[in-house]
Amino acid sequence: MNYSLTPAEIKELTSHYTYGTWRRQKGWVPMHVVDAEDCYFFGADGKKYLDFSAQLMCVTLGHKNRAVVKAIQDQAEKLAYVGPGWATDVRAELSKLLLEVLPKGLEKFFFTTSGTEANEAAFKIARMVTGKTKIISRYRSYHGSTMGSIAATGDPRRWAMEPAGKIPGVIFAPEVNCYKCPILHTYPGCGIACAEYIEHMIANESDVAAIIVEPVVGTNGVLVPPKEYLPRLRQISDAHGVLLIADEVMSGWCRTGRWFAVDNWDVKPDILTTAKGITNAAIPLGLCATTAKIASYFDDHFFSHGHTYEAHPLTLAPAVASISEMKRLQLNDRATQMGAYLGQQLSRLKPKHPSIGDVRGIGLFWAVELVKSQETKEPLNTGEDKINGRPMLVDKVAAHAMNNGVYIQAWMSHFVIAPPLIISKEEIDRGVSTLDEALTIADNEVREAAVTAANK
Ligand SMILES: Cc1ncc(COP(=O)(O)O)c(C=O)c1O
Repeated sequence: MNYSLTPAEIKELTSHYTYGTWRRQKGWVPMHVVDAEDCYFFGADGKKYLDFSAQLMCVTLGHKNRAVVKAIQDQAEKLAYVGPGWATDVRAELSKLLLEVLPKGLEKFFFTTSGTEANEAAFKIARMVTGKTKIISRYRSYHGSTMGSIAATGDPRRWAMEPAGKIPGVIFAPEVNCYKCPILHTYPGCGIACAEYIEHMIANESDVAAIIVEPVVGTNGVLVPPKEYLPRLRQISDAHGVLLIADEVMSGWCRTGRWFAVDNWDVKPDILTTAKGITNAAIPLGLCATTAKIASYFDDHFFSHGHTYEAHPLTLAPAVASISEMKRLQLNDRATQMGAYLGQQLSRLKPKHPSIGDVRGIGLFWAVELVKSQETKEPLNTGEDKINGRPMLVDKVAAHAMNNGVYIQAWMSHFVIAPPLIISKEEIDRGVSTLDEALTIADNEVREAAVTAANK
């Protein structure tokens, strides 16, 4: 379809057509994107940008994957919509593939249209099945934007909803962060105290229905747990009859070199939620997958949940195509190999830049964390700065990289580098060298702050 608006009219209308998400609105002028292909997107300014974060860490196969596009077209012709109460070919096809790739034991699927809704379903299911209320989440986490999922979000996006605008019953544990441990321990001498503390919480709280974790924390800094952490959480959950929910909205779909991040530690959650890469983000789809045991509770109890768009055929068809493409392109192997290369190249930046505190990741999922001082590990900016609309240094660095044709997702005091899994070595080199150059902005601020502090 050809649209008829002029660039000036488009610019005028951007101030009406939406809210800019998770930001103050003043001064927000979204860049106009007109096309995207493979690892690139194209601005109305005529420039081509390397997508070094796969948009919101979701365009796993690269933009405009032909098989995904065709699946959407074909499904629109065949059966664009039928309500969730009917069986469809595409629903069966997708279920067959999910049974193949999901961690064993996850056998019953509820389809949503976002990661947020997948977590919302997980919380309701966990509460109905266990008859208990409390959900344990962790501070450095994001689980979605609705009243339930924002309540379980540990990062400052939750603050505006405190205390009344969210569901009650969510409590927070310290995250696992071996670079800057929130409870001031050092791995491995700590005996993963952050996991043991969760057991302490369960024992002292009572009424705990579930623990929700991003197996590898995404937006909040690609926090990869040590090898004992998730297996220990599994043991703790089993010992206390608490359900373990793995939020794989961002970490799933080959991003870490395995179908799902939990596979790296051979941990089987009771509930797994996902979205984003399941359709290569081409159509909104989320999934809440549970064990047969959990699902069997509803054989004789009312399943009090649903959506008009649950199992919407048009959302399921690109998932079938995406999973088939991930298999054909062997994206797990590719993420492992290219991820090792990306990690090596990013790690080389650290000795050159006083502003880099840590470089960490797994597969093609990496973070570069910026600090005021490598000794104190104090972040360049905080959640408080973000919410109060103060200029964020990471945004300045990202804007500079963008000017040089590379898009990198910036959050608080770090970058999340998670390109499409089809990225080449040459493209990785270009992304890393652009970041390398842009980081001089942060280095200068860190040096100036050190001089000011010395002169005080
Ligand atoms: C780990 C995690 N969970 C949940 C969500 C929410 O998903 P959505 O934005 O599709 O609602 C996100 C989104 O970034 C996420 O990263």
